[in-house]
Amino acid sequence: MTAVTTPADYTHRLLGLEGSTAVVTGASQGIGLAIAQALASAGADVIAVSHSMPEGDSDARTAVEEQCRVFTPLRCDFSSREQVAALAADLADREVDILVNNGGTIRRSPAADHSDEDFDHVMDVNLRTAFVLSCEVGRAMLERGAGKIVNTASMLSFQGGINVPGYTSSKSAIAGLTKALANEWAAGGVNVNAVAPGYVATANTLALREDPVRSQSILDRIPAGRWADATDIAGAVLFLCSPAASYIHGATLPVDGGWLAR
Ligand SMILES: NC(=O)c1ccc[n+]([C@@H]2O[C@H](COP(=O)([O-])OP(=O)(O)OC[C@H]3O[C@@H](n4cnc5c(N)ncnc54)[C@H](OP(=O)(O)O)[C@@H]3O)[C@@H](O)[C@H]2O)c1
Repeated sequence: MTAVTTPADYTHRLLGLEGSTAVVTGASQGIGLAIAQALASAGADVIAVSHSMPEGDSDARTAVEEQCRVFTPLRCDFSSREQVAALAADLADREVDILVNNGGTIRRSPAADHSDEDFDHVMDVNLRTAFVLSCEVGRAMLERGAGKIVNTASMLSFQGGINVPGYTSSKSAIAGLTKALANEWAAGGVNVNAVAPGYVATANTLALREDPVRSQSILDRIPAGRWADATDIAGAVLFLCSPAASYIHGATLPVDGGWLAR
């Protein structure tokens, strides 16, 4: 007798991640924490990476273990070439099915005053690390003929921004890197895409939210009429990591409350 397929089975096949291992960088807080929780809720074990990720109790551990999934914390400073190389080698040995390059930083100052140290730091953390981890983990994915990589882009992958020239450069390059890797790896069964969050209420945007003029002008321009919550972004990342997104390659998906449509 043929088994009956219920709508729930079908949804599960499209979005379920059981049996997979996901690496989420920048998983200590904010968007990365919400992504770790979303992937775990869909069935993935999670390797959570950040600069200060605790071995013991953490919000990330709670988020993953509450979903009855295996949690592995790893610590790495993305501004250190040596530490990133060591992390990449470690991850390449672990059969990673999903890599979410989410960890990131921002340095704010007018372009004329923006030091090259700040520029290099932001480029190293936001861009070079994503490249190095993607290459090491992606090589192993290609050998297995399957894998998902999702990078975290930004509205500043499309626009110039104000007082953040290093950040804008890094996020514009993330969109380019996403396309470059997708072109090479799509035929090998590896999906490389990016999510471009709009304005999300996290530590990254604290300075903006504390400036009443900037904060209001940003809010006034968002068609949805609110800042994003980290879970708004996590849902889109879950989709891009899932079988439902198997035919999507090289896309940078805005999750912006309509910001770019305006
Ligand atoms: N919030 C927004 O509106 C927004 C909009 C567009 C794009 N994004 C992007 O979304 C991503 C997550 O941002 P968020 O808003 O969630 O920021 P967040 O709350 O400040 O979290 C940043 C994460 O990145 C990690 N990180 C920062 N510097 C690091 C370093 N040197 N080495 C290793 N890890 C480091 C932090 O680790 P520790 O906590 O351990 O230091 C933390 O886990 C970033 O790529 C950001 O650019 C954010």
